[in-house]
Amino acid sequence: MSEDSMRSPAQRIEPARLDHEDREELVAEARAAAQRAPDEARVKVKTREVAVFYGAKQALFDVDLDIRERMVTALIGPSGCGKSTYLRCLNRMNDTIDIARVTGRIELDGEDIYESGIDVVELRARVGMVFQKPNPFPKSIFENVAYGPRIHGLAATKAEIQDIVEKSLKRAGLFEEVKDRLNEPGTSLSGGQQQRLCIARAIAVGPEVILMDEPCSALDPIATARVEELIDELRQNYTIVIVTHSMQQAARVSQRTAMFHLGNLVEEGPTDRMFTNPRERKTQDYITGRFG
Ligand SMILES: Nc1ncnc2c1ncn2[C@@H]1O[C@H](COP(=O)(O)OP(=O)(O)O)[C@@H](O)[C@H]1O
Ligand SMILES: [Mg+2]
Repeated sequence: MSEDSMRSPAQRIEPARLDHEDREELVAEARAAAQRAPDEARVKVKTREVAVFYGAKQALFDVDLDIRERMVTALIGPSGCGKSTYLRCLNRMNDTIDIARVTGRIELDGEDIYESGIDVVELRARVGMVFQKPNPFPKSIFENVAYGPRIHGLAATKAEIQDIVEKSLKRAGLFEEVKDRLNEPGTSLSGGQQQRLCIARAIAVGPEVILMDEPCSALDPIATARVEELIDELRQNYTIVIVTHSMQQAARVSQRTAMFHLGNLVEEGPTDRMFTNPRERKTQDYITGRFG
């Protein structure tokens, strides 16, 4: 099933509905987000000439991009332009797709993550992932969060596990809502709570980078606002890369924005500059809803 067919028509045309007022608001949001951002940040993830092929078909072309530490980088662009493909390169999730082949260089803290000695399980703990549709394990709320630390040997005693679970749920802004029902199934939570549970699960194994692929697209506006708030808080401790189809969301939560089109990175820059003064016509056309 294509991603587009999973999206509601309203979401698909969202950028096209931007009128002048919405655009002013977008710019104001992006400026406010920029003001909350540190002036400079070191590069956490560096990709050079990254290309991805699915069988004979090339989906990504020579992407050179620096992801800055403790910032939120938004990946934007029309459906099918390679945003998810790029995101999956960063923790080698494309390895799980048989026909996918990745070339180029991807460094995490200067270390090549495709090198032969790399432990992929450990890499995916350092670079966690949150998906479009919340996907809690068919286990209790507690076990959803405890599972990772246990298999990674991060906690030896019951008390240590409990401590990690509580801290992770607190960091994900979920603890107060679930503290009296930790033994109930993760799937008994609302969609927004499930997504925060998935974020807590990612946090529990001590990641440095969190990848989010349209994490709010299955959520209602209130749950979306809650998750966006959380993303802004998490930025203090984690490097976040988020794919979003919503220009408003990119403006609200990100400090850097990267625009993709047809498998190419069109441009990347501070979010406020990207929304006020994009260098490329393609970016301008996309954010003003001329295509998408
Ligand atoms: N598992 C896959 N097998 C084959 N082709 C794929 C697969 N995943 C993505 N593609 C193709 O790669 C291109 C980029 O897709 P994707 O990265 O999902 O774009 P986006 O996330 O921007 O919508 C599309 O042409 C899509 O059909
Ligand atoms: Mg996608």
